[in-house]
Amino acid sequence: MRAWILDQQAAIEDGPLSLVEVATPRPAESELRIRVLVCGICRTDIHIVEGDLPLKKKPIVLGHEVVGVVDQVGKGVGSFNIGEKVGACWLHSSCNSCKYCLSGAENYCSNIKCTGWDKDGGFAEYMIVPERNALSLENLRSSPEKIAPLLCPGIAGYAAFKLAEAREGDKLGLYGFGPTAYYVSKVAQKLGIRTYVSTRSPDHIQRARQEGADWAGDASKETMPNRLDAAVLFPPAGNLVEPALAQLQAGGTLVMAPVSSSSIVIRDYSANLWGRSIRTLYNVNMTDAREFLVLAEDLDLEMGVTVFPFESLPDALIQTKQGRLKEPNAVLQVARENGTYR
Ligand SMILES: NC(=O)c1ccc[n+]([C@@H]2O[C@H](COP(=O)([O-])OP(=O)(O)OC[C@H]3O[C@@H](n4cnc5c(N)ncnc54)[C@H](OP(=O)(O)O)[C@@H]3O)[C@@H](O)[C@H]2O)c1
Ligand SMILES: [Zn+2]
Ligand SMILES: [Zn+2]
Repeated sequence: MRAWILDQQAAIEDGPLSLVEVATPRPAESELRIRVLVCGICRTDIHIVEGDLPLKKKPIVLGHEVVGVVDQVGKGVGSFNIGEKVGACWLHSSCNSCKYCLSGAENYCSNIKCTGWDKDGGFAEYMIVPERNALSLENLRSSPEKIAPLLCPGIAGYAAFKLAEAREGDKLGLYGFGPTAYYVSKVAQKLGIRTYVSTRSPDHIQRARQEGADWAGDASKETMPNRLDAAVLFPPAGNLVEPALAQLQAGGTLVMAPVSSSSIVIRDYSANLWGRSIRTLYNVNMTDAREFLVLAEDLDLEMGVTVFPFESLPDALIQTKQGRLKEPNAVLQVARENGTYR
């Protein structure tokens, strides 16, 4: 099969990925082989390529927003049939036996394996997914390219939203308005939660307003009209933490979504942190993933995607990194739904 592999980390612009012919993987017991249709491109892929995150496997096929069809099943697979539409997300597998795995909180498992980081992902014609962590997409009406971003920003946003514990009638702050914040805003609004978006770029401010935010602006330049019950911070900018905490009412929670952050300094504990909580999003679990896909179908969540042909992955990564995409999410088309690779 053809696969994009990364062997050595480097700047995206230096073209460290190569398109090569490799052996098509075979599913072991309790595993599915997926014929990949599309795979979304995430900022995390760029972090892996460029060395912000360590290279855990060499060579590695990146990509963790995978939509495909079951093509082969290993021994003992009982819940999926050949030809069924399935998805793979960031959570590839976990130990299945620790206290976290046994309580549905496998995102905290110390033996977690991630798709496209520990294990080969979806920038290839085929990939392997454990049956236990494959997502059935049979009930989703959207096209594969529209489903792909649901599988990372969608699920992660929903997981962050749950940590915020906002309730109907609450005011929820969102700092940054990238793909993840979009999904949080849609879920929150549907549940009767008012959204207040602070983001810098005029485009994002305008989009947040179009998407129904009660207020959108740059909170470092203008004051939000209300205190908030909860907030989610998306950019890896530690300097935003104290002002975001200051905007919360007593009892409020600030959820930090980033996987890394610049230093966080709280200068005035009594005024800004006392009485509030900070929580962090640490991977996602399959309960969040499955709950979110049901919600996404009910809410008809759809976000703009820029589709790239399979050969154009390097260009898609550059455009994502440089913020030059026409639509917020880049998706790589690997094969047609009813045909083979084009
Ligand atoms: N913890 C986990 O397990 C997990 C899983 C998935 C994703 N994530 C994280 O979720 C976050 C959201 O991802 P995303 O791709 O949707 O967002 P993103 O586009 O990377 O960032 C969101 C927005 O924040 C604003 N921003 C960026 N840098 C900023 C800064 N220094 N100061 C103020 N604003 C800044 C930008 O909008 P403006 O230019 O308009 O300000 C940007 O579009 C990422 O940090 C990602 O790592 C975490
Ligand atoms: Zn991702
Ligand atoms: Zn475990």
